[in-house]
Amino acid sequence: MIRLLLPFVLCLPAAVAAGQPAKTVKVTVLSTMLVGNSAAGIGEWGFAAVLEVDGHRLLIDTGARSETVLKNAAELNVDLSTITDLVLTHNHADHTGGLLTLRRELSRKQPSALSRVHVPRGIFYPRPGAGGREGNGLLPLKAAYESTGGVFIEHAGAATIMPGVSMLGPVPRVHPERNFGSPRGGTIGRVQTPEGLVEDNVPEDTSIVVDTADGLVLISGCGHSGIVNAMEFARKTVRAAPVYAAIGGFHLFAASDETLSWTAAKLKEFGVRHMMGAHCTGIEAVYRLRQLAGLSRQTVVVGAVGASYTHGKGFDATVLAR
Ligand SMILES: [Fe+2]
Repeated sequence: MIRLLLPFVLCLPAAVAAGQPAKTVKVTVLSTMLVGNSAAGIGEWGFAAVLEVDGHRLLIDTGARSETVLKNAAELNVDLSTITDLVLTHNHADHTGGLLTLRRELSRKQPSALSRVHVPRGIFYPRPGAGGREGNGLLPLKAAYESTGGVFIEHAGAATIMPGVSMLGPVPRVHPERNFGSPRGGTIGRVQTPEGLVEDNVPEDTSIVVDTADGLVLISGCGHSGIVNAMEFARKTVRAAPVYAAIGGFHLFAASDETLSWTAAKLKEFGVRHMMGAHCTGIEAVYRLRQLAGLSRQTVVVGAVGASYTHGKGFDATVLAR
């Protein structure tokens, strides 16, 4: 069924199929807190980015507010209407809020625009809240999205979703990186899994990995699995290679000194050379990781709307975040 829908999607449980390493890789941020230029974009508590690999394009997450990504892309001259596939890294509203608006608006121009959503298993698990309120931000959008002709493609494990591009599926929690809970410091909710009602550690949380000759480029939405868990799982399932670049939200804004030191040591161990900490990574955490990992101002930057990473060239971090 999935193969009929998507000829190049291969769902494999343990490791993704080895292919040719990607040659050209570019990531452009479309939603995050900070805006780096006065000329284009607006900031929000959310995340979205466009990934371009050897001519294929993928949208990763859709921002928080319904129109942020649509408007930011227009102001940055990024045409999203020619992108057919997107990934939602997890169920939270600051990553799924733009889904319906983007699909509805862009499909008027191009019917196939954002018509296939790759999701990790567990993203539709109910999150029962106080008074019976549903806490899963994606569930109310599911039927509305499908009524536009769009389809969700669920991945239980690592899968190749574009040539040279893998989606990790749910990332196993080997290390106790507790990168979840309300961004405002509230209580941790519960999730209804097939095994029962348990603490909601966002079990579906996934990352995207591009395999290049220099190593892996990892893009994370919110990093609820933990940046170290994601990197280790990428090295296990995609290729046992250095993690050349890490980009996106890594949920370290409230991390302790001890956690940041441990994380930095792991970044060094994995060979991380470039890092863009956007969204929930936190600004102080980016600066601290840069220093602790012995990296430079050019190679570790705070993510801003319009900022980009070009493999082989490095970051264009925008005026403010440089
Ligand atoms: Fe988030």
